[in-house]
Amino acid sequence: MKIPNGPSSPALLRRLRMLKWIFRPFSVLEQRAKRYGDPFVISKNTSPWVVYFSNPKAIQQIFTADPELFDTNSANKILLPLLGEHSLILLGGERHQRQRRLLMPPFHGDRLRTYGQVICAITEQVISQWKVGEAFTVRASMQEISLQVILSAVFGLHEGQRFDQLRETLTLLLDSVGSPLSSVLLFFPSLQKDWGPLSPWGRFLQLKQQIDQLLIAEIQARRKQADPNRDDILSLLIAARDETGQAMSDAELRDELLTLLFAGHETTASALAWALYWIDHLPEVQSKLLHELNTLPPDADPSAIARLPYLTAVCQETLRIYPIAINTFPRVTKSAIEIMGYQFEPGTVLMPSIYLTHQREDIYPELKLFKPERFLERQFSSYEYLPFGGGERRCIGLAFAQFEMKLVLATILSRCELKLASNRPVKPTRRGLTVAPPTNMRMVVTQRRQQKTPVLL
Ligand code: HEM
Repeated sequence: MKIPNGPSSPALLRRLRMLKWIFRPFSVLEQRAKRYGDPFVISKNTSPWVVYFSNPKAIQQIFTADPELFDTNSANKILLPLLGEHSLILLGGERHQRQRRLLMPPFHGDRLRTYGQVICAITEQVISQWKVGEAFTVRASMQEISLQVILSAVFGLHEGQRFDQLRETLTLLLDSVGSPLSSVLLFFPSLQKDWGPLSPWGRFLQLKQQIDQLLIAEIQARRKQADPNRDDILSLLIAARDETGQAMSDAELRDELLTLLFAGHETTASALAWALYWIDHLPEVQSKLLHELNTLPPDADPSAIARLPYLTAVCQETLRIYPIAINTFPRVTKSAIEIMGYQFEPGTVLMPSIYLTHQREDIYPELKLFKPERFLERQFSSYEYLPFGGGERRCIGLAFAQFEMKLVLATILSRCELKLASNRPVKPTRRGLTVAPPTNMRMVVTQRRQQKTPVLL
């Protein structure tokens, strides 16, 4: 039986390594994979073992195994303070399956089309605030778009004081654990001390409480004015009944809504910011994209934009080269398991590494180059290309996020000519549990384009 390689290090060194991993996750992972191979153990003298995989065969084995073999929910406890105990991400077993069945349809198939016009209109409204010649912060703008989009999917078209408060407070909450330094709070529970609203964790708890109150107030208001014609996600969740006829409680609804709002906009905003970076960085990518957009017929609708092959490939390559989630959720083995000849004890934390899989030269030649063409030349399996994870935990917003990315980019590109405000190279930075372009990456609108994309007419 084979044993994966990895360092044996004392506790202090492990903590220092953990800090390095928080601040520079991609380079740390690359160094370890180079030194210890695949799979590797984070540290051999800790229990349980945390094992990283990047071999598609191993990843396939993990994604297609009986879900009952793994406990994913308890390994996600790091998200408990943010999302609450009823969050889909923290549920397991039958309850997890049931909630997924409920939440998947609104983000897929025909329902996607209904969001097309809204996504373009929100993008239009946000970019209309950019002034020619003035720099804007890319992350803030992309986050404004993606937050408004997910709020409208979750609550339906919505305005008013509570909605504005929710939008502002949610942004503050995510920013409070969004900087590389404050991300440390999520990884070290011992630092999660409430020393009043001026302390970082105290501030976090205060914002979280405000959001909880706003969500509960909205849920209660909606329960009072039930409208059978509404088809937004909150209406759907309020109407849902389990097999015993039981409706979801206010606390369950609150945690599920927050999960969708959180998972559904942070990630997409980071992906959009990266896409704009690459499109600016590589003029030939930009001109191919503009050329493709110009081929759209005047009556093309959002679905036609979403089908554009080069635009699709640019979005795929954006999520390949710097995936927003470094790894999938951890899978903790409930019983002994063998993967590719390695035997793992119950309790082992299995980490399918999205980043390391996307950095395999045997799958992605010239892997450090941003090459959308690779997605036009060949198809990758869902164990070779996995920006949205896989198996029973695969991202429920996969189709929604890709649809949104394409429409937002098409709208921006057909409206504005952009340029990065600085020529300095942009490096991936930690943002909470994810990795993103730096928050201060700025761009300038050099010119407004006159041409209207068909979808906006
Ligand atoms: C570019 C955007 C996005 C990326 C890169 C992304 C990535 C991921 C990844 C890697 C996972 C873990 C999958 C696993 O462990 O196998 C995940 C789970 C999840 N994502 Fe996304 N996501 C994105 C957008 C969205 C959107 C728009 C939504 C909401 C509609 C969403 C909702 C969720 C939820 C609820 C889960 C938990 C699923 C479960 O536990 O069963 N995500 N996402």
